[in-house]
Amino acid sequence: MKRIAVLSSGGDSPGFNPCIRAVVRQGLDYGMDVFGVERGYIGLIQGRFRQLNARSVGGIIGRGGTFLGTARSEEFKTALGQREAIRNLNVNGIEGLVVIGGDGSFRGAQALHERGVKVVGIPGTIDNDIPYTDMSIGADTALNTALDAIDKIKDTASSHRRAFIIETMGHESGYLALIAGLAGGAEIILVPEIETKLETIVADLQDSYTRGKNHFIIVAAEGWKPGTQALASHLRERQEELGFPVRVTVLGYVQRGGSPSAFDRLLATRLGAAAVAALHSGESGVMVGLIGNKIQTTLLSKVVKQNKSLDMSFYELAKVLEK
Ligand code: F6P
Repeated sequence: MKRIAVLSSGGDSPGFNPCIRAVVRQGLDYGMDVFGVERGYIGLIQGRFRQLNARSVGGIIGRGGTFLGTARSEEFKTALGQREAIRNLNVNGIEGLVVIGGDGSFRGAQALHERGVKVVGIPGTIDNDIPYTDMSIGADTALNTALDAIDKIKDTASSHRRAFIIETMGHESGYLALIAGLAGGAEIILVPEIETKLETIVADLQDSYTRGKNHFIIVAAEGWKPGTQALASHLRERQEELGFPVRVTVLGYVQRGGSPSAFDRLLATRLGAAAVAALHSGESGVMVGLIGNKIQTTLLSKVVKQNKSLDMSFYELAKVLEK
């Protein structure tokens, strides 16, 4: 294989840049020409390719975001969009494609594979909701960002004797809320995967107040229902019985940005190099992931069919420790 391209797709996460850097430099090491595609599948449809050399990816290892840009493309979900993308790959003589992204990006990659394009996926999302990899690129940095916020808010919560609801990202996945909540010593963790009744939260708050706690930290994923604002209203209505006044902090997009952690840089670097090695050895329709401490490949067709379930042992542990 002489010519490959790399694109980043879907929601960005810290570590996309070091991943692109590894793809480019590993490709150059194999004697390949490496191209970057701007703005994910949109750029593929529009033929926005840029040849990259070792210097093009210099100085980006510690930068958040993705210098190639990223996007979510509705057009690429159509047969016409996919045919246009394949045409552009052919016109530019590109024989292999690396796709960095999450679930939606992998559906696109699998569609290309089924149409004969050689493609390898790399999991990158702060939600860490991709199966067949213990960690996705960006999740560790996002966790540390959320944890830093929890620690800081706890200072105010205990100084003022307040309850805080801290909302993390994760529209369908409770991973960030669960792990940041556990590591941050939260009193309650609310995730979309587990139903928690408002009454249970009220009872826990009352119990903590009675036991003499001077703060109460609730970490809630954005996808938990009925949602952070509904919970806040409910708690405010019952403030007299609770003891703690309630405040809300929505962490939002700060979790998606920032310099990637050492873990994410290393993961991104290993996965980027492994994806190019997979293309080099003729593999296609696979995702490279971290299982245990080994880089392993899994068929994309398997990856896109499954949801990654939350590790309930962490949830149980958090419940034991929230005394
Ligand atoms: O998929 C990652 C994620 O951060 C989700 O947790 C969040 O709901 C979503 O992206 C928001 O993405 P955007 O606003 O960029 O579409």
